[in-house]
Amino acid sequence: MNMSNSVDNSLSNDSYDALVLAAKATLRRIASEFTPAVFASSLAAEDMVLTDLILRAELPIGIFTLETGRLPAETLNVIDRIKEIYDYDVALYRPEPAAVGAYVQQKGLNAFYESIALRRECCHIRKIEPLGRALAGNKAWVTGQRRSQSSTRAALDVQEQDDAHGMAKFNPLADWSEQDVWHYIRSNNVPYNALHDKGYPSIGCEPCTRAIQPGEDVRAGRWWWEAPDTKECGLHVVDGKLVRIKPVSAQ
Ligand code: ADX
Ligand code: SF4
Repeated sequence: MNMSNSVDNSLSNDSYDALVLAAKATLRRIASEFTPAVFASSLAAEDMVLTDLILRAELPIGIFTLETGRLPAETLNVIDRIKEIYDYDVALYRPEPAAVGAYVQQKGLNAFYESIALRRECCHIRKIEPLGRALAGNKAWVTGQRRSQSSTRAALDVQEQDDAHGMAKFNPLADWSEQDVWHYIRSNNVPYNALHDKGYPSIGCEPCTRAIQPGEDVRAGRWWWEAPDTKECGLHVVDGKLVRIKPVSAQ
């Protein structure tokens, strides 16, 4: 399946254009009212739309990736493409080597397949703790989450208050469909992760992501051995539980 070719030609140009304008306006507002702000990029399709919007407009929003040590080579290649095309160095936050070492030695390199608790512990070490370091000292952070990505994101707002990190959290693409994302990537010649052309609409760590079959849910390939309502790594939850972050009405 070629996910990147799944552009829906029946898109209404009006609503697509309005979505792009709204995302640009949200990013400009973050840059002017929430400095310093950072964007958490997984280097997947949604995040490449935001990368392009931020870097083309030269907005003062730093871009970082949580380099878990288990990312696929195709994902890491995107970092080089961003350097080539935009001349921008994505900041990389890595897990504490001692914590990774202890987990691997005591539980096993791939112990996350054994239980939800062991999976969350690995995500905590490789993503959540580094995320805390990446966000420290900022007034806002930005993500590429969309409402239609999963049942756990159905109530997502463009602007929320993230009490866990003590700052605003923005999801500028909350209203976008997958087709809108690919329409933007195609029309603006944005670089993207090669795995999207191999049946991976959603991409995380290599051992916890697989390709999906036609008709499967877009997140079916993430932690595929778990039930849909546990499929969050904790970046967008608190203490392992899905906690609705308070929505803030757009100003
Ligand atoms: S996850 O929580 O299940 O891993 P998903 O892959 O859908 O999330 O990504 C949702 C958003 O979380 C991304 O748009 C991005 O903002 C952030 N994110 C996910 N993984 C990373 C990562 N490795 N580094 C930085 N941000 C990430
Ligand atoms: Fe560990 Fe998998 Fe979570 Fe990556 S997605 S941090 S490999 S459990």
